Amino acid sequence: MYFPQTRLRRLRQNRAFRRMVRETKVSPENLIMPYFVVSGENIRKEIKSLPGQFHLSIDELLKEIDELENLGISGIILFGIPEKKDKEGSGAYSDSGIIQRACRELKKKVKDLLIITDVCLCEYREDGHCGIVEDGKIDNDNTIEVLAKIAISQARAGSDMVAPSDMMDGRVGAIRNALDNEGYKDIPIMSYSAKYSSSLYSPFRNAANCAPSFGDRTTYQMDYSNKYEVLREIEQDIEEGVDIVMVKPALFYLDVISLVNERFNVPLCAFSVSGEYAMIKTASQGGFIDEKRVVDEALTSIKRAGANIIITYFAKEYAKNLVSKIS
Ligand code: PBG
Ligand code: ZN
Repeated sequence: MYFPQTRLRRLRQNRAFRRMVRETKVSPENLIMPYFVVSGENIRKEIKSLPGQFHLSIDELLKEIDELENLGISGIILFGIPEKKDKEGSGAYSDSGIIQRACRELKKKVKDLLIITDVCLCEYREDGHCGIVEDGKIDNDNTIEVLAKIAISQARAGSDMVAPSDMMDGRVGAIRNALDNEGYKDIPIMSYSAKYSSSLYSPFRNAANCAPSFGDRTTYQMDYSNKYEVLREIEQDIEEGVDIVMVKPALFYLDVISLVNERFNVPLCAFSVSGEYAMIKTASQGGFIDEKRVVDEALTSIKRAGANIIITYFAKEYAKNLVSKIS
């Protein structure tokens, strides 16, 4: 049957029909909100490169929790800004590190929100690299030992799930073994499995002051010209015991998200990164686009592509707007 019997516009004629046949809907439980945690008290300092996002001291971060829980957001992912960086990046695994302190405090307050911790060295090392540098090169195998140490210290402090973002080979296996040996067999690993070497991380690097002081991240993060290489990254992570895989960035990589979703039966997260946030935020501040609508379209497209979990700096705002739409 063709036109005029078939009229696809029939089910588009009003909101009630459209709502009924809608295939994709983003809900707060799909969302994870990122935070940058700093030392000190009463600090809520807007981040220049991420308008509307803040450097928060632990006491200020605690104030966010009730609202996020009431909105039904699934979790938060924490990035630490240490007081001092050093050559080894020791702030990443110190029991008195900023993330470890934050986890201990959050744990006392949180009821229904997952505390996820980013596992990496770049925010803590003077040279801003995600791994240990030997003779100007990143030493993969020594790095994964340190990453395991970071993960253990975070689990000990109360992290619900660790998320390695470094892109070293074999790190999921190394972290899994270490966690299991230390009695944390129930702490899941959400791996940044397909993390591309992207220029969309600049606002984050600015916020965390972690741009590499020499070279770049192209020897460990993926080349954005490649798609099928992701299959190997994810196969490896699954073999090493990963629980959730991630594609990052999100919006320029919807084809990759879709491919992973079709090929693997594993929970899939997409990280809509700082540059994606900044582009939408500044365009809407300039009055060129409608922020709420564009954010809804962006997040819907990421979920439609196949990601069920989305890390986005818009998580809180988006969930708030949803609530006001319903009531
Ligand atoms: C650290 C890390 C980065 C991001 C998440 N974890 C920066 C980088 O790899 O340079 C980027 C997040 C964002 O841009 O929002 N490894
Ligand atoms: Zn890093």
